[in-house]
Amino acid sequence: MTSENTLTDQAQQILIDNDRGGYTVPTAGLYPYQWNWDSAVAAFGFAQFDVERAWVELETLFQGQWADGMVPHILFHKNDPGYFPGPDVWACEGPIPSSGIIQPPIAATMARFVWEQDREMGQARMAVLYPKMLAWHNWIMRWRLHMGAVCTTHPWETGRDNAPDWDKTMARMDASDVGEYTRRDTAHVNSEDRPTKFDYDRYIKLVQLGRRLKWDQAAMMAESPFRVADPTMTFTTLRAARDLHAVGEALGKDVSQIAADIKRLEAGVSTLWNKDLGGFDSRDVHSGEWAGCVSNASYLCWFAGVENPAMLARLRDVLERVPYPVPSNDPDAETFDARRYWRGPTWAIVNMLIGLGLKDMGHEKEAQALAKKTADLIAEHGFAEYFDPFSGDAAGGGSFTWTAAVWLAWAGRD
Ligand code: GLC
Repeated sequence: MTSENTLTDQAQQILIDNDRGGYTVPTAGLYPYQWNWDSAVAAFGFAQFDVERAWVELETLFQGQWADGMVPHILFHKNDPGYFPGPDVWACEGPIPSSGIIQPPIAATMARFVWEQDREMGQARMAVLYPKMLAWHNWIMRWRLHMGAVCTTHPWETGRDNAPDWDKTMARMDASDVGEYTRRDTAHVNSEDRPTKFDYDRYIKLVQLGRRLKWDQAAMMAESPFRVADPTMTFTTLRAARDLHAVGEALGKDVSQIAADIKRLEAGVSTLWNKDLGGFDSRDVHSGEWAGCVSNASYLCWFAGVENPAMLARLRDVLERVPYPVPSNDPDAETFDARRYWRGPTWAIVNMLIGLGLKDMGHEKEAQALAKKTADLIAEHGFAEYFDPFSGDAAGGGSFTWTAAVWLAWAGRD
């Protein structure tokens, strides 16, 4: 058996071990529930060796869909006191106890990949999922758009919890009345690798606000201090719209509305281009202020089918200079922190999305280089949650579902 085989076996075993019956947890202990975009990536990983299980992962995720089309960022299938904030803090009323916010909508893209592995047998599964995925897309178009760009209403929605993108907006928030609470994340992993208390107070404050407003989107739009148009949400939504368009056409549906949405989202992308920074950036919708951040999400342009020579030049530079790219924050930025979560570390999941986009857009060389570097990182440092981009050191949780899935579906192939 070659070592590549061993790694593939290990990756499969991680998905199997993290399976809780119809859904996978990101990692035991730290994240004991079903997370939305982790789950979509898990489905892509499962599709490499158990396509039936891949469909089930997506189907379970959509069982948590709210009546208005929203698909929550966490589904609390079984209560676990090891996680905070749990279902009692969110107080949501969906079909499955859940959080009240979303995550990057990559499920439609991952579902299309699963379908590609299972075109004939999967036709009926896809036909059932399609209207649900479309309803979620419509929900985002209704509640999250600003000038065509997709906004986040909580740092957790973007999946990039403590990215410097939110610093200015968070600094303006008052969380002095958040009250007492006990964090659970720092009981599982090194607190140096996790968001600070300053950030955590504001995460909880925003959950309290949503709860008080009964997760009513119109009320939250009017009252929430946190509304930031961001590259993660915008690029993944645009990509999902393209995939829904393709799947809809294949299923013989009328896709004219999605085609119009794609145009709106494309226009929105241009509102995230920060000329002075020379990169795709986040902008605070209330203040109009730029965040001034080039993150790994800035490189998701190709994933969304958006070409950009300046971003390509930046990417080439990062591939050259950083031993284990793509760092989640510009290494030259003052806010760069090689270990702290989304303020510097490299995340295999984002690398995969960037790499798939590069390949689609004909940047074969860069796509291959990134896949190879990600494969080396995992081979040398394991299936960690995220990694120090300079030393490659593993950080956060171990035996991580999406890192294993990335190995199976992308980095560890060929
Ligand atoms: C953290 C990450 C988020 C991920 C979740 C579960 O909150 O920031 O992107 O979905 O953990 O892995």
